[in-house]
Amino acid sequence: MKLKLYSFLCLLLVVCALPAANQQKIRIIHGPYLQNVGANDATIVWITDKPSVGWVEIAPDDESHFYAQERAKIFDTKIGIKRTSTIHAVKIDGLQPGVRYRYRACAQEVLEHRVNQVVYGSIASTDVYGKAPLSFTTLNPQKSAVNFAMLNDIHGRNEVLEQMIGQCDLAETDLFLFNGDMVSWTNDQEQLFGGFMDKAVELFAGSVPMYYCRGNHETRGPMAPYFQDYFNPKEDELYYMFRQGPVCFVVLDCGEDKPDSDVEYYGITAYDEYRTQQARWLESALKSDLYQQAPFKVIVCHMPPFGGWHGELDIAQKFIPLLNENKPDVYLCGHIHRYSRHGAGDNGVNFPLIVNSNNTLLKARVDAGRMDIRVYDLDGKEIDRLLIEK
Ligand SMILES: [Fe+2]
Repeated sequence: MKLKLYSFLCLLLVVCALPAANQQKIRIIHGPYLQNVGANDATIVWITDKPSVGWVEIAPDDESHFYAQERAKIFDTKIGIKRTSTIHAVKIDGLQPGVRYRYRACAQEVLEHRVNQVVYGSIASTDVYGKAPLSFTTLNPQKSAVNFAMLNDIHGRNEVLEQMIGQCDLAETDLFLFNGDMVSWTNDQEQLFGGFMDKAVELFAGSVPMYYCRGNHETRGPMAPYFQDYFNPKEDELYYMFRQGPVCFVVLDCGEDKPDSDVEYYGITAYDEYRTQQARWLESALKSDLYQQAPFKVIVCHMPPFGGWHGELDIAQKFIPLLNENKPDVYLCGHIHRYSRHGAGDNGVNFPLIVNSNNTLLKARVDAGRMDIRVYDLDGKEIDRLLIEK
């Protein structure tokens, strides 16, 4: 009898809890973080725990309170419709170069679509009251100097990521480069965020731009085809270029390291063709004013163009002749987990090349006449320096 009464009470508790669970307010569970910040635009990405429509409210970085007036809203839309999703990405256009903007990311739950009627639920947003609103500064090609930092091959080691970011003066760092293999593979979204991105958001990624260069490990796992939902979400491709201050950055997407036919890939990859298509883009990118007129040119690519594996050989064959013709100042890569620096002429590469390790942080300061790259170990000790003066 006692057992029956106990079972009945348990059932009652579950039944009572169900409506309460459904009524739980929507929450932002990851982000927001910046992507593809340019001179006139920026993308903001955040993730909610329920399907919702998303928008960003943007305000100038002046003395006014964020609540002083209704702020401009830019919605997450596609083909003219506000997207219902848990992954939100808003591209803000029409910004001024080198200007700081404040923002708030918001999402309203979509409970139901009843034919053409939409039933909305609660709203979640980032805090603009309890603390200073999030803010970012657009790029400025006229800026006299740029400071950037690069790390790679973190493979989900949040503590190493934190140690490296801790070595950077965030107020002085214009941008971060994540040069691939930030996780070893991705089974689901939580692995992606738990592996490094939540930590990056906690430390800087909502306010300092991060540019992602995909490694070969981000190509692995059930989440791999959805990588662009989270990074470069509003861009055509994962290879792209941008300029900050005197530097033009060209970010390349290396693909996998073994032949596409290798048993490890189970027939899902087609990187040979992808690198051929990318080389066509690179050829025109290197002829552009953006590249040609920049005082310094930096190539960012996860894999080096040497080492003897298929992906490296394909990069050497398809990208390096184009780069040799349009000499960048330096090629920054990782992948090997061992630090090395190579002078112009080594391995058929007619410009300096740095292979950053999985435990070293690269920091650079570049002005119109000189690029000063320093590399630090996890204790903050300088282990190498490359100085290029013009
Ligand atoms: Fe790698």
